[in-house]
Amino acid sequence: MSLITDKSINVSDALDSRITVRDFLERPVPDAVLQKILKQALRSPSGGNLQPWKIHVLRGDALKALTEAGVKRAQSGATETPTYRAYPSPLWEPQRSWRYKLGEDMYAKIGIEKENKLGRLMWLMQNIKFFEAPVGIIITGDKRLEMPQYMDIGIYLQSLMLLARQEGLHTAAQGWWRQWPGLLSEHLEIPEAEEVLVGLSLGYANPQAPVNQLRADRTDVETVVKFYGE
Ligand SMILES: Cc1cc2nc3c(=O)[nH]c(=O)nc-3n(C[C@H](O)[C@H](O)[C@H](O)COP(=O)(O)O)c2cc1C
Repeated sequence: MSLITDKSINVSDALDSRITVRDFLERPVPDAVLQKILKQALRSPSGGNLQPWKIHVLRGDALKALTEAGVKRAQSGATETPTYRAYPSPLWEPQRSWRYKLGEDMYAKIGIEKENKLGRLMWLMQNIKFFEAPVGIIITGDKRLEMPQYMDIGIYLQSLMLLARQEGLHTAAQGWWRQWPGLLSEHLEIPEAEEVLVGLSLGYANPQAPVNQLRADRTDVETVVKFYGE
């Protein structure tokens, strides 16, 4: 299935056509559209209606300043203590193989061989540029949040991603930003009591980009769903 850039007409359509887009067009996102989806996503449910998300939206000069500083910082070899680990370590089967397969499928699309470690590392740097998207979003939350609130934030993220599809936009969720809490604090107003949870690139997908042709595998219903009763 090739990349769909049309506006989604219903939830199934949005869900089916949403992929992680890792190459965006320069085309700006109209302010009214951005405001609309940010507002609508606030209808996301959260346990106890805690609404634990804080959303930082970067565009224009602010986005440029962060991404340029980020590239410089990363190229200097600097690292920071991440907010959290990306995956449990060690990862077990079948998740381990699914993760591996995703990476291999993605690098096959962009033609970076396994031996080309530097090439793969350089490609990962696209994360720090929000994949060239015109809008970069960082979600922070209080350090005292617990697991149920992280679920809420995941729900919020999915709402935003589906609403984006309805506007003909695409997204890339980016846990990657967990690695740069210090850099982000230099560019955003993140109170001491809060931490960086996740990022999101938002914009119009580049339909020509090979990386955007990746349709990541999914398991079948039988593997993850168990039915009880009739
Ligand atoms: C919470 C979350 C964090 C993610 N972080 C990253 C990331 O930092 N960089 C990236 O390229 N993709 C990231 N992804 C995208 C996943 O790799 C992707 O959703 C998965 O492989 C399924 O592919 P699809 O989104 O194209 O269907 C993230 C996805 C989620 C839901």
